[in-house]
Amino acid sequence: MAYYRSAGAVPPKRHTQHRDPETGGLYFEELMGEEGFSSDSSLLYHRHLPSAMVDSRVWRLPEDKPEPNHPLKPYHFRLHDLFPGESWRQADPVRDRRTVLGNADVRISYVAAGVPSPLYRNGIGDECVYVESGGGVLESVFGSIEVGAGDYVVIPRATTHRWLPTGDAPLRLYAIEANSHITPAKRYLSTYGQLLEHAPFCERDLRGPVGPLLAEDVPGEDTEVYVKHRVGGGIGGTVLVTPTHPFDVVGWDGCLYPYAFNISDYEPITGRVHQPPPAHQVFEGNGFVICNFVPRKVDYHPLSIPVPYYHSNVDSDEVMFYTGGDYEARKGSGIGQGSVSLHPGGHTHGPQPGAYERSIGAEFFDELAVMVDTFRPLDLAEGGRAADDGRYAWSWSGRGPQGDLG
Ligand SMILES: [Fe+2]
Repeated sequence: MAYYRSAGAVPPKRHTQHRDPETGGLYFEELMGEEGFSSDSSLLYHRHLPSAMVDSRVWRLPEDKPEPNHPLKPYHFRLHDLFPGESWRQADPVRDRRTVLGNADVRISYVAAGVPSPLYRNGIGDECVYVESGGGVLESVFGSIEVGAGDYVVIPRATTHRWLPTGDAPLRLYAIEANSHITPAKRYLSTYGQLLEHAPFCERDLRGPVGPLLAEDVPGEDTEVYVKHRVGGGIGGTVLVTPTHPFDVVGWDGCLYPYAFNISDYEPITGRVHQPPPAHQVFEGNGFVICNFVPRKVDYHPLSIPVPYYHSNVDSDEVMFYTGGDYEARKGSGIGQGSVSLHPGGHTHGPQPGAYERSIGAEFFDELAVMVDTFRPLDLAEGGRAADDGRYAWSWSGRGPQGDLG
């Protein structure tokens, strides 16, 4: 985000001496910057050396061999089935994520969590984590952000952070992990990075970290940081052990930091006839876009058909996460809260039988959905295969190869 923030104690001039007012000791300046000193960055001032570590060992990521979508089918995944009963009480928001879909640009995973995550850093790309329900706090080297239902939480690559669920309900997270940076749609931004007048949200809607945090160091106690990183063309995990707590920042400033944006602050763009999905865009990364469908007045031409026309996204796979309301176009398909549909490129999709006609005359859709469109095909990961309803592909015709929906 090219939106400047400053928190805590920073010196008046960058790259100059910044000292602890009590001990006179120097703080250690860290520049965290994108694209090799040529894009957004922040300067953080640490009490301890940010590069110090005492161990590095393997973090074994869950075994997964994503399978190509072949033979080609649309899918419906019931994500709530991945965490049945009270299993969420032992799950943490990072290590217990179950990957649903993925390709070389982005991975989509889901977790219902009840215990804090360890300290974590994604060295592969930015994360955009959508909070389906529950509450919690995202703590990071920049400070803390309280999060709740409907928040998109954008966490820049390599930000050391942790998730702390609060309350007695699962913190349900739909995590979009990129191999790149995730930014507001570029067409919403001025040449210099300000959100423009036609954008459906603006800087006032973004919540930055409050802090900074100053974790108490416990002498002799080391800290583990779980790091996801690139290795051999794939994804590796490492636990780095540091001699002091990474949350030792006394102040920071710049344009790179985690932030939250609530979906209810997205002002929908509507029209006399159907508005295509790009009108609902929020963010983008390399090889994908993120859009959302929020409660809104619908098409008001006297002959309009408010649900979408049938469409073939010849260049993309479309992933919809149904996160609230009542999604008009999918009625009768079994899709409900916590469902994900995958409509792959090469297949024409659209409203379920009856929805097209039924929508005529509707004035308002009470729907809430987050959509990821990817330009490379998505593979089915372990969580997707486990949450497949097994019948969605036949829901438009009413029968499959066995003659029924089963
Ligand atoms: Fe679609």
